[in-house]
Amino acid sequence: MEGNRYLTFALGKGRLARKALELFESIGITCEEMKDPDTRKLIFVNEEKKMRFFLSKGPDVPTYVEYGAADIGIVGEDTIREENRKIHEVLDLGFGKCRMCVCGPSQARELLQRRELIRVASKYPRIAKDYFYNKKHQTVEMIKLNGSIELAPIVGLAEVIVDIVETGSTLRENGLEVLEEVCPLSARMVVNPVSMKMEHARITQLIMMLREELKK
Ligand code: PRP
Repeated sequence: MEGNRYLTFALGKGRLARKALELFESIGITCEEMKDPDTRKLIFVNEEKKMRFFLSKGPDVPTYVEYGAADIGIVGEDTIREENRKIHEVLDLGFGKCRMCVCGPSQARELLQRRELIRVASKYPRIAKDYFYNKKHQTVEMIKLNGSIELAPIVGLAEVIVDIVETGSTLRENGLEVLEEVCPLSARMVVNPVSMKMEHARITQLIMMLREELKK
């Protein structure tokens, strides 16, 4: 799989990156220096395999990959859909499974059914707009937030939210529920279109090895 040029991977910080590194390890791609919890280094190299890895905020992964600063990215499908970058999605990694949902207090169910002009808060305005405008044909007012989205209906900023639900415990602990499901989500591998051509052999071999490993 080795070549002359470094193959660069952008990993979305946190659980996805840890899972991705576990998966890479299972096919013999390791990066020991990345495991040091105290390191302040930003980029990690596997000299033998001619690979480099860096961690970035999830929403920045598609940006690095579109511009070719990373050849390959590991990121949630939610981020891919929201960022809408020119990148190839090549593999469903099967982990990071969750759902994008419309959530709110149970009373909000009626507002959705009556297609009222409601306020929708989300970290994912593109996904939320696409759902309400193109799938439901309902006009809504979108409010972009950057985190702790569940607060919005509690303090009266919005009637409902569009957010990720994994275990459902954040909703339960805040008296909210899933009102509608937008789509299922999982972690994906994405590739820069030029890298896909220039490094075709290495990247397709990597995809095949990962695909085999994921079948186990
Ligand atoms: C995500 C999401 C929900 C929560 C869902 O937030 O936005 O708040 O996880 O998980 P659960 O169904 O298992 O409770 P995250 O922790 O990423 O932080 P954020 O609120 O800052 O977006």
